[in-house]
Amino acid sequence: MASLHQARSTRFAALIILILALGALSFFAAPADAQCTCTRGSMNSSARCWYGGPGSGSYVTVPSGGTYSINCQAVGGSVGGNNYWNRIWYNGRWCYVNDYYMTTGCATKCSNIGCCSGYSC
Ligand SMILES: *[C@@H]1O[C@H](CO)[C@@H](O)[C@H](O)[C@H]1NC(C)=O
Repeated sequence: MASLHQARSTRFAALIILILALGALSFFAAPADAQCTCTRGSMNSSARCWYGGPGSGSYVTVPSGGTYSINCQAVGGSVGGNNYWNRIWYNGRWCYVNDYYMTTGCATKCSNIGCCSGYSC
């Protein structure tokens, strides 16, 4: 009876060690940027925010300083080496502003934010 109990606790301890090891491994193996999450961005410059998609259609100029929730992201034309566009709600409408003009805490893609419909990201 005692040896059966001991075998069970040994297996249980081995399982715990395995789970901890896998957790540590996935933590170190993940590239830093793939884990970058964001919810909003602040305008670090005034910029055009496009109604028709990244750089298309008509636009509104968003002043610097404001902070906006990012609803989705889209890959489009590059501005300052950044080809990510963030869809924000500004002045009662959705529009797309290039990520180059926003500080989100992530270099480009926010891993927790999905692609805007019709775009890759
Ligand atoms: C805005 O901030 C981002 C990230 O901090 C930076 O990469 C980018 O160059 C800045 N853009 C402008 C127009 O200052």
